[in-house]
Amino acid sequence: MVTSTELPHGINLADAKLFERNEAHEAFRLLRRDAPVHWNPGTEHVNGFWSLTKAEDVLFVSRHPELFISSKGIAGSGPRHVDVEAQARAEAQIGVSGASIITMDPPRHVQMRRLVNKGFTPRAVNAMEPRIREITNELLDRVGDRQSGDFVLEVSSQLPLAVICGMMGLDREVWPLMFELTNSILGSGDPEYQATAAKAGAVAADAVGTAEAARLTNMTGMMRMIGYFREQLADRRAHPREDDLVSILLESEIDGEGLTEKEILEFCFLLVVAGNETTRNAISSGLIALCEHPEERARLQADMSLIDSAVEEILRWTSPVVHMAREATADVVIRGQQIRAGEKVIMWYPSVNRDEELFADPYRFDITRSPNEHLAFGIGEHFCLGAGFARKEIRVMFEELFKCYPDIQVAGAPERLRSNFIGGIKHLPVTYGSA
Ligand code: HEM
Repeated sequence: MVTSTELPHGINLADAKLFERNEAHEAFRLLRRDAPVHWNPGTEHVNGFWSLTKAEDVLFVSRHPELFISSKGIAGSGPRHVDVEAQARAEAQIGVSGASIITMDPPRHVQMRRLVNKGFTPRAVNAMEPRIREITNELLDRVGDRQSGDFVLEVSSQLPLAVICGMMGLDREVWPLMFELTNSILGSGDPEYQATAAKAGAVAADAVGTAEAARLTNMTGMMRMIGYFREQLADRRAHPREDDLVSILLESEIDGEGLTEKEILEFCFLLVVAGNETTRNAISSGLIALCEHPEERARLQADMSLIDSAVEEILRWTSPVVHMAREATADVVIRGQQIRAGEKVIMWYPSVNRDEELFADPYRFDITRSPNEHLAFGIGEHFCLGAGFARKEIRVMFEELFKCYPDIQVAGAPERLRSNFIGGIKHLPVTYGSA
């Protein structure tokens, strides 16, 4: 067993390039074997953190939200020195602090989550299925008889975007803007997306007019998204609508009190970002996995009734969300390692989804794996609110894709996002084959 301060095999999970190069699985295997609860030192600027790579430990942390809180940040270990005044100034300028249900702790978390639950029940998901199929077929029709293309830009990113924007009642013209802004927010460490300000401005020009676009281009992705939603709220107040998620939030109350504008804006922001970035990666990485395992793909295409378990295996195999972070509120010992109050703990989902103690033969992609208790959606208090939609979208996408383009193939190396938070695929060259 390696002691907590040594860096086994030179592994540094704070290095996003490890994930961009798709080399993290070997690092996780070594950590699970030699240092399953491992202290990853920080730098002058960022905090160190405990890496949890075993399923049992991630289950423990996720099931004790009072001991491991989300409100101090769920992405990364956070800056070592927080300039409180500068942060307050930035928050005042943007109008929100980025604190939505995903960064809330009990008891407020549950109250807030309950407000939108009815939009995410199995019934709501099933009711949406025909629309999900319709959108999928529109996207595939648009590919037409083009022989090749970028699967991410043309297909996989567009379905989740359309579904979440549709649920929120956003006008179709702003969907491309939401796509650009999500990329620049979640891909802020990736060189391609750091340079999207100008591009987002161009999309905004098409979407909301040139003067507005100029204003939007000067703000950060988050400010632009919040700015858009602030206008939406004003519009809904003037012209009430019924059953989209933004309107539900506007009418919601907790203990007789409506939500503040800030709370609603934070919620909208989370829904757009969480709803469109993750599922697209499950679909893109799922297609890669199926192409890399032709015998499993053939089994599925020969019998599409296997699709539900194939979706679960795609989720386990691809783990589109790479980590969630927590902060310890008290001293606690995990697997013999002393974790102190105030220290950061990071749960690595791709690792727990290959944990030899939870899965037989974990490095085998098996579309009929059973049991398959993967943790791709997390577990406990913060279990993914959109899991039902994500599963349905992945399922419908592969059903329709294999009907329309049964011979689709990956035709080049995927371009991966430089991020240790989202397992993103930015571009995926494919040959569609004949429609
Ligand atoms: C394959 C796709 C998806 C994956 C892998 C995924 C993964 C996750 C994970 C791991 C969490 C847990 C956070 C934690 O424990 O701190 C989470 C939370 C959440 N997800 Fe997803 N997600 C996906 C799709 C979606 C979609 C489509 C939506 C919205 C329509 C969504 C909305 C949310 C929200 C609102 C939360 C916060 C829940 C809470 O804090 O109570 N997700 N997701």
